[in-house]
Amino acid sequence: MKNIENHGGLNSAWTDSLARNQHPDDTALLAHLRTVHQHNAGFTEMCASSCRDEAGRNSYEWLAEAVPSIDGTRVLDLACGSGPLLEILYDRNLNLQLTGVDMSPEELALAKGRLPEGVVQFFELKAQDLKAIGDNSKDVVLCHWALTLMNPIAPVLDEIRRVLSKGGRFAALVDGPMSAASMYTEVHDLIYKCVQAELPNYGQVELGDPRIRGTDSLNHLISATFPDAEVTVETNVVSMEGPATEVAELAAGFFYAAFTLPTELRRTMLSKLSDLLAVTNLGEDAARKARFSMPINRLLVIPSPK
Ligand SMILES: C[S@@+](CC[C@H](N)C(=O)[O-])C[C@H]1O[C@@H](n2cnc3c(N)ncnc32)[C@H](O)[C@@H]1O
Repeated sequence: MKNIENHGGLNSAWTDSLARNQHPDDTALLAHLRTVHQHNAGFTEMCASSCRDEAGRNSYEWLAEAVPSIDGTRVLDLACGSGPLLEILYDRNLNLQLTGVDMSPEELALAKGRLPEGVVQFFELKAQDLKAIGDNSKDVVLCHWALTLMNPIAPVLDEIRRVLSKGGRFAALVDGPMSAASMYTEVHDLIYKCVQAELPNYGQVELGDPRIRGTDSLNHLISATFPDAEVTVETNVVSMEGPATEVAELAAGFFYAAFTLPTELRRTMLSKLSDLLAVTNLGEDAARKARFSMPINRLLVIPSPK
């Protein structure tokens, strides 16, 4: 058996279970995610705000399009993290009624700090139990890059249905099909290979419910909770370009797996990733340019009026 204490990367009950060849339970998943976000609050925003689609939109801006710019619209950002989506919505229309929920106190602190006091209501809650949010009280529920992490997922979808008003809608940004973005599979495989050298079961056991990651399985899952809803899943690709070392660092941030690597292995992985993503080979490492592209899906659920 592996020496768990000396694993050296980010340790949690979840990684310890993997190292013991066990299947981590839901409590271990929550603890693992809390630990990652406690030590790296704001990392999703750093990666996601750097990547843009062909129309120049980052994924927050693309998701924000699901919100009608009508004064008084009540919007819940579920798993709001450090609050970039809430800020975009606030800047677009000061008269939206905004609420942010997350289970990470460190992420919530960043979100609170970036918006004028009192313009957003924040709650530290798990998405599986939104007890502070009333029935039928939101016109739009958004979730940017977090559904993928949630297990069990059915109670989350039940809670979203409960809080949505008649005529409300739910929109989420999730992983798109890997084949949609050039070199994405290679980036994924490189990172997972490095992580599996330490934790062989990482990948066989993933964070969250894998059904969120497939377009068909996502559709089935949504239909189970919203049987009469109009459901659309659109695929897009967002990319970033820049100095190879920076691009590699930011790209690795999209993979929770990368946070489990001990410092030395992480450095090796980042160096291989810079080589993989480099689009020029001229000059010193810092001067090389690289490009990273990522597939994303935008889910839109419009339930039939209750
Ligand atoms: C990848 S980050 C995305 C944050 C933000 N939406 C963004 O895109 O910048 C995932 C967020 O989901 C939160 N999260 C994960 N599982 C959760 C759950 N079950 N309930 C509430 N928050 C959760 C984490 O704390 C983290 O802030």
